[in-house]
Amino acid sequence: MTTVRPPITIVEADLDRHFTGIVEVYRANEWSHAQNPERLRTAIELSSYAVVATEGEQVVGFARAMSDGAFAVYIADILVLPELQRQGIGRSLVKELLDRYPMERFHHQVLVAERGAEGFYRRLGLVPVGSFGLTAFIRTRDQ
Ligand SMILES: CC(C)(COP(=O)(O)OP(=O)(O)OC[C@H]1O[C@@H](n2cnc3c(N)ncnc32)[C@H](O)[C@@H]1OP(=O)(O)O)[C@@H](O)C(=O)NCCC(=O)NCCS
Repeated sequence: MTTVRPPITIVEADLDRHFTGIVEVYRANEWSHAQNPERLRTAIELSSYAVVATEGEQVVGFARAMSDGAFAVYIADILVLPELQRQGIGRSLVKELLDRYPMERFHHQVLVAERGAEGFYRRLGLVPVGSFGLTAFIRTRDQ
């Protein structure tokens, strides 16, 4: 017997429909946000744009963006279920966000790459800030 899997679809996140699945994607990647779903929900609600990758009814990926709507967009939390990584889902999620804030209108698109994810962003055409003689600064609890 052959099992036919539904296609992966990228759609705007609808928290009533997708929130449980979004938390599961964070949890499956062992991101601490999953331990505090209320704060995560607030973060997504206050983001400018959030998208999910779905396979049928299941959420298999998530990403969000925060923007001033004119010059800058900050991309955050790109996550794909571990068992479905390296199948092009992350690329589709990032493309959806970057297309929403095109370089024809926006001055810069920026993100902080997790350790190990640098190659992914390079593959998508993003460039480390150091390449422009710029330095990114950060304060984080993860130091
Ligand atoms: C990083 C992540 C979102 C990538 O999603 P994905 O669906 O596996 O990536 P894709 O399959 O769309 O990969 C797109 C391209 O990047 C490459 N790539 C993916 N992950 C990579 C990595 N960690 N290092 C180097 N290249 C990578 C793929 O091989 C593919 O290359 P191609 O253009 O030759 O086909 C996913 O691995 C993930 O959820 N990781 C855990 C959470 C995380 O660290 N997120 C990043 C937050 S900054």
